[in-house]
Parts: sequence; structure tokens; C-alpha cells
Amino acid sequence: MNFVSKYYPVIICFSLTIFTTIQAQEAKQHPLEAKIDSILSILTLEEKVAMCHAQSKFSTKGVERLGIPEIWMSDGPHGVRAEISWDDWAYAGWTNDSITAFPALTCLASTFNPKLAGEFGFSLGEEARYRKKDVLLGPGVNIYRTPMNGRNFEYMGEDPFLASTMVVPYIKGVQKNGVAACVKHYALNNQEHKRDLINVEVSDRALHEIYLPAFKAAVQKANVWSIMGAYNKFRGEYTTHHELLTKKILKGDWKFDGVVISDWSSAHDTKKAALNGLDIEMGTGTDGLGMTTANHYNQYYLASPFLKALKNGEISESVVNDKVRRILRLMYRTNMSSNRPLGRANNKEHHDVARKVATEGIVLLKNDNNFFPIKDDKNITIAVIGENATRSMTTGGGSSELKPKFEISPLQGLKERYKNATIIHSIGYASGASIYDQVMPSPYDADSLKIEAIKVAKKADIVLFVGGLSKSHLQDCEGDDRKQYGLPFGQEELIDEIKKANKNIGFVLITGNAVDMPWLSKVDGVIQTWYLGSMAGHAIADIISGDVNPSGKLPFSFPKKLEDNGAHSFGASSYPGINLTQEYKEDILVGYRWHDTKKIKPVYAFGYGMSYTDFNIKNVAIDNKKYAKNGTITVSCDVTNTGTIDGAEVVQVYVGKSKSNVKRAVKELKGFSKVFLKSGEIQTVSITINVDELAFYDESISDWNIEEGDYEIYVGNASNNISKKMKITVK
Ligand code: GLC
Repeated sequence: MNFVSKYYPVIICFSLTIFTTIQAQEAKQHPLEAKIDSILSILTLEEKVAMCHAQSKFSTKGVERLGIPEIWMSDGPHGVRAEISWDDWAYAGWTNDSITAFPALTCLASTFNPKLAGEFGFSLGEEARYRKKDVLLGPGVNIYRTPMNGRNFEYMGEDPFLASTMVVPYIKGVQKNGVAACVKHYALNNQEHKRDLINVEVSDRALHEIYLPAFKAAVQKANVWSIMGAYNKFRGEYTTHHELLTKKILKGDWKFDGVVISDWSSAHDTKKAALNGLDIEMGTGTDGLGMTTANHYNQYYLASPFLKALKNGEISESVVNDKVRRILRLMYRTNMSSNRPLGRANNKEHHDVARKVATEGIVLLKNDNNFFPIKDDKNITIAVIGENATRSMTTGGGSSELKPKFEISPLQGLKERYKNATIIHSIGYASGASIYDQVMPSPYDADSLKIEAIKVAKKADIVLFVGGLSKSHLQDCEGDDRKQYGLPFGQEELIDEIKKANKNIGFVLITGNAVDMPWLSKVDGVIQTWYLGSMAGHAIADIISGDVNPSGKLPFSFPKKLEDNGAHSFGASSYPGINLTQEYKEDILVGYRWHDTKKIKPVYAFGYGMSYTDFNIKNVAIDNKKYAKNGTITVSCDVTNTGTIDGAEVVQVYVGKSKSNVKRAVKELKGFSKVFLKSGEIQTVSITINVDELAFYDESISDWNIEEGDYEIYVGNASNNISKKMKITVK
């Protein structure tokens, strides 16, 4: 008997011990992955496939026999949407699903306050948790390329650095509640017009430098647990299951370990969905908001056709296993987590956060003759004119619409704040109801409204015109784009008429997009107030009364005319596209990058926003002259509040490279810091920028590349208001 046969039992036992020890080691390192492996090994193929697609409008199947729960999802990015029916788009008619409506994300971006973004995300996530949702279908971070995009109000503006910086704390805040954020819409969904058919052509450089950064930050810095594929195509392929975007970049380069969820009906092919990385298919057979096909679920691309392909070996079982592994990982982070928080809703803290984001996001654009703030004086009469003073701004807009427990209108907020002044009101103009994909006629006669408004204006000392856009179709609304750059519903004419009756007009502009401003010279003051949610009226009154000093900065430019915008400078082939294809011909020069580089002055610039006090930025310095490619640049300056009112300023640092081997924007935002200063107070602000943030995406090597040589550093409080320009060298 040789050695092996003699000691065979010992050898087996020894190697078994080694093997189980390694497995135990593995399990200790990745207990979650071990648990997932053990569940995978007992799931049937049918159960695995069933987890990869919807069972209802907003849920996917669990595994009843094993006690694996369903996954419940809900919109949206600035509040938890009311419950939708099981199998159609009608609301379910619940009476326990009203919530806090937070400001839309353009407002959050305008705060330039990442800490506040964390509070926003946490509060919203708490409400989603309380409403028993496992996935919150937000935030949206598609870049603002054109002022006509119906959904810009839901997103974070035209600059990738601002969106990337603000989205990370928001996602972390949501996910602290054991609720998955679902960053959307990945990618290049920058218009609503024919969103489910349009094919986007754009350079690799613009893709990586402008359109992907916020998603990359969501994955690599916020560890987002899910991401939503977009409706549109990119280079001829649907983005929801795109070999380059989803398989190579997202799951390959960025190592995304979460779940890719389709937009509702954005999946189009079983094999591509299976092999290019779509994990959960939702909403197929619907157009995302309107049409729906009842009980369509077994016909989904990742339903029976997928099961069939798995059974006949056309698709390997490892493909469905990877999807289920990701889905189970999301469940262990949410509805199967052992220490999941409980959630809260409609509580004071959330209302306070909503109000704080609103007041910090409101942007003071114009303030001639110190029109704002308006004193609460018993001798003055204020006429509040305009439909937006009373129109609900939480309903409409598409999937992000909300059913708030309450919504304070601008008129109500002003009436409650101004106890001494006399507030009178007239609707002035009126649009139709906010109904998805229909423009509803106004129920009122425009002339009679105008006559009435002028009468009211005559009686007042001051007019507050509360106008802008609405959340109805072809306005700031999902499903299609705006059709005009100017204000709708006869507002421009109305302002002209009111001006004849009363010289003192302040415009409270409620929009999620830039608009034409031919009336600008006719008003003394303009505040850009966004869609502010439940606390809108209180926040607007806080700013107008001076209780809060405005500190918002524009997250996008206001072009004088539409053709001054980059996307609108190359004809229909660039926007809205011809024959369902469009090319982003402005390339990397989006927003202020276009205005600066083409020397086209906007009416109001990215990063601009006034205050009731004054600041100055002095002693701007950088810590070095020469930097290595792996170094960090520290920019410092002293900010002084030279006025008599406490306030906040946003120091912004832009970087450019006037001498370069590649096309460059004059300057790009690479750092910012918001500083709160009491009257007379001075603070030193310091902003660090990693040199690798200066890299450009080099198409010749399909990778990032830091060009050596001189760079310009611009420090100021707006993209068009630079206090100091300095030079550094990267060697
Ligand atoms: C919509 C939207 C998406 C939303 C989803 C569910 O079509 O594009 O943002 O989350 O469908 O309502």
C-alpha cells in the first residue's frame, strides 16, 4: 500500500479543512456575497428570471417560498410620488400617501451647498422609507444643454462639476435610510422631444467631460445602489442596454456593483438587455406615463423570451445569475437589511429642510433701487398679480409630480408674512390644467383678466408679478419640450400693460428653465424662485421680506435669445434633431462654456446671483506656481461681508488652458465654496483642486490625459465676475 492509499482519509480530511477554511475566510471577507451565493444556489431559473422584470407598474416579484420580498419603487427626485395603481397609470386613490414636497433639483443645485444636498437627500429618503419604498427613482442629473428641455427643472444645471458635487451627498443621504437611490437617466437624455426615439451623436470627449461625470460621481463617490437607463439611443443603440455605456463604462470601467433599472418601456431587445447589462426591466408596453398594456409582464423582454433563451442555452445561466446577484445585493442594502432605519414623513425637520433649500436656492437676479426687500409697512399696498401666485406647482410636470400634505402658495406665504401691509391679488393671466401630453385651454377670458389686473395694479404702491412657466404640457413638463423661449399665456403683453398702470414692478419668476426677458427693463427687481414644493410661499416671503438674505447662484445661463445657446447654434440637426437623429455640435462648449468661448454675453450668467449685502474677495492666492500631475492646487482668498446684513457668498474657482493642443472652453468650474458671513465679518476660504481634475478626455488614447504647461486659474463669485486670474504650470 503506497503513501497516498495509506493516508488517503487523512489527506482528504486535511484538504477539506483547508477548503472550508478558505471559504470561511471568503465568507468573513464578504459575508454578503456568501449569503447571495447560497440563495442563488437554491433559486429555480423561473424564480431568477421573474426577479429581472416588473410584476406591476412599480414592483418586481420576490420569491414567496423563500421569504425573499418584492422590490417596491417610487418616483421621484424631489418627493415621494402618490401611490400608483397595480397595473395602470391611474393613481391608486390612497389617503395615506401625501408627503413633503421638496424643491426641484435646479433649486438644490442653485444653493451651491453640498451639505444641504445631504440634508435634502436624507429627509427625502426618510419619507421614501416611511412610504415603504425600496428604490427612490431619483436624482436626475442630465445636463442642461438647451433651455427648451421640458425636464430641466428636475436636474442640476449645465455644469458637470456642480452636478457631480451636489449629487453625491444627496445620494448618500437617501441611502442612509436603507432606500436605494436610482440616478437617472443614463445617459444623454437631454431633451424630452421624441425622447424614446431620438438617436444622439456626440463625441467621446463631450460624452466623458460633460454628460457622464455626474453619473460617474454617483457610482464611484456616492456608491449609488441603482441607476436608470434612458429612453434615447446613442450611436444607434438604446442607452438602457448599451454595450459601451452600460456594459463597458458603467459595469466595466466604473465597477458599478448595483442594479441597472430601465426607464418605463425603455428596454427593446432580449439579447441586448441580457448581455449588455440591464438587470431589471420596468414599464414595457407603456410609454412611460400614458399608454399601458395590461398584464403585459410575461411578454417582457427579460421575461419568457429570456427564460427560453436561458433554457435552450442561447444565453448562459451566468448572465441571469449576475443580474440576480446584483438584485439580491440591493435587497440586502434595503428590504433585507437587518438594521434598516424606520423612516419618517411630514415632520417639522423635513419642512425646515424644504424651506432652507428653497430660501438658499432662490436667486436674486435684479434689484434696481433696492426694490427688494419690501418692508411690511401698514401704509403700503402690494398687488400680487399672476397665475403662479396661486397655481399648484407640485402637481403636473410628469412623473415627478407630487401629492403634498400641504403646499403654501406664494400668495398665501406673502399674506401670512405681511401683517401690516395690504395685500391685494388678481390672477392676471391663466393657463389650462396640468394634464400630461395635452395642452388644456384656459378656462378664463384673457382680456377680462387683464382689465381686472390693471385695475388692481392701479390701487397698489408696488406690484409683485408672479409668473413664469407652469408644469403643464409643452412647459416645464416631461414628455415633450417647450415650443417657445418667451413667457407663455400673454404674460409679456400683460407686464407692458401693468407698467402703464404702476411703475413699481418686481418679477417673481417661477420656472425650471431660462426664458426670454424682453420685459426686463420694465421691472425693478427679479427673483428666480424655481419650483419650491410644500414651503414655496414661506420661502418666497422669507426672501421678499428680507427675513432671509438670498444666496442662490444660477446653475445655468440665461441666453439673450435662443440662438445664443450652443445647442441652438447649428440648426435642427443639433436640436431637436432631423429624422430622429441629432448631433451635439456644440460638443464640450455647453452653457457658459459656449458663452465665454464664443464671447456671447448672456442676460444672466452661470454662477451669478445677488445678495442684499455686499461682499468682496481679496488676497487671492495659490499655494504654488508649479504642480506635479498627481498634486493638489490650493486656492485661498479672504471674503468680507462689507454690507450691513448677514449673508452668504459662493467663491467659485474656474480653470482654463488658453494654450492647448486641443479645443478648450475658456474656463471650467473646478471648485466652489459657500461661506456664511455676518455683517462686517471676514473669513479665509480655501478650495483644493486635484491636478487630475484638469485632465481632458483624449480621444486619441480613449482615456484621460493631463496636458503639461500653463493653466489659468479664475477666482470670482460668478462665471462672468472674476476677481483674480492667475497662472500655474503643470509639469
Ligand atoms: C418616466 C420617467 C422616469 C420615471 C419613470 C417612472 O417615463 O422618464 O424618470 O422614473 O417613468 O415613472
